[in-house]
Amino acid sequence: MTKTTGLARAIELLRPPIIEFGTGTLAKLGDWARAKGYQRPFVVAGSSAAARVGMLGLPGDVGVFGTVAPEPDIPNFEATLAAARAHKPDLIVGFGGGSPMDVAKLVAALLDGGQTLAEVVGPEKVAGRRVGLAQVPTTAGTGSEVGTRALVTDPVSRNKWAVQSRFMLADIAIIDPEMTATVPARVTAETGVDAMAHCVEAFTNIKAHPIIDGYALEGVRLVGRYLARAVQNGADHEARAGMALASLYGGLCLGPVNTADGRGERGDLPACPRL
Ligand SMILES: NC(=O)c1ccc[n+]([C@@H]2O[C@H](COP(=O)([O-])OP(=O)(O)OC[C@H]3O[C@@H](n4cnc5c(N)ncnc54)[C@H](O)[C@@H]3O)[C@@H](O)[C@H]2O)c1
Repeated sequence: MTKTTGLARAIELLRPPIIEFGTGTLAKLGDWARAKGYQRPFVVAGSSAAARVGMLGLPGDVGVFGTVAPEPDIPNFEATLAAARAHKPDLIVGFGGGSPMDVAKLVAALLDGGQTLAEVVGPEKVAGRRVGLAQVPTTAGTGSEVGTRALVTDPVSRNKWAVQSRFMLADIAIIDPEMTATVPARVTAETGVDAMAHCVEAFTNIKAHPIIDGYALEGVRLVGRYLARAVQNGADHEARAGMALASLYGGLCLGPVNTADGRGERGDLPACPRL
């Protein structure tokens, strides 16, 4: 019996048009925002990143909402949206882990008030986006900076509402591994496992595709090589960079090959001895 490789199966890849990766790339954000003419940036941050907004070097009148909670719920999102609307921004900047980056996407998509959060839950329900969107991760795990998805928790049911839209894709994603140097060991471990899960689930997914498998396999390798080092020594710059890249690869896996659709078997592929 001839096994299928899936090589010719149709797939669409969406990526931010600019992905800056590496130590020192944070400085690119201000340059980019100035070149684009943004004058009223609004930063959506978690508490740890909020103290470092000055590092972003943004031009103009900078607004900040600095209390996006881990695993944000709908009221936390609504508070962020209200603060953003009051600032009248032309650029939204997600700055922090997956929680503030996801909220930043939703704020950018719903800023103009034409749609409610409930109306955009699900795939491709967002009508458009009128402001710029930049993402700067400070954890290495979700890969949210390069993706089209956002998750917020319904405090009543405790279910996560998932919104997916191409209008929530960032105009620029800046992954400077140094931003993750202060992440505590426990959060480093938890977020690192998240990156690994994205890659493993993409590779074992019923919708797995060769164009994504490369990211998935390399992401798993990077986690294997660097996660323990990053947990043991947060100042290990190489390990932090390795995990930032693993997270980015995990993010690139999401979307075209969603997680949790796996069937636990990949009849078309041999065991992967290089892992
Ligand atoms: N959009 C997606 O595709 C996607 C994928 C997976 C998960 N998520 C969502 O992402 C969220 C989780 O994101 P996360 O795992 O990055 O965690 P997080 O953003 O919730 O942050 C976890 C903790 O780490 C702290 N922190 C962040 N950066 C730090 C730093 N540099 N130094 C010190 N502390 C720091 C935060 O303040 C917070 O207390 C969840 O809401 C989850 O649903 C989204």
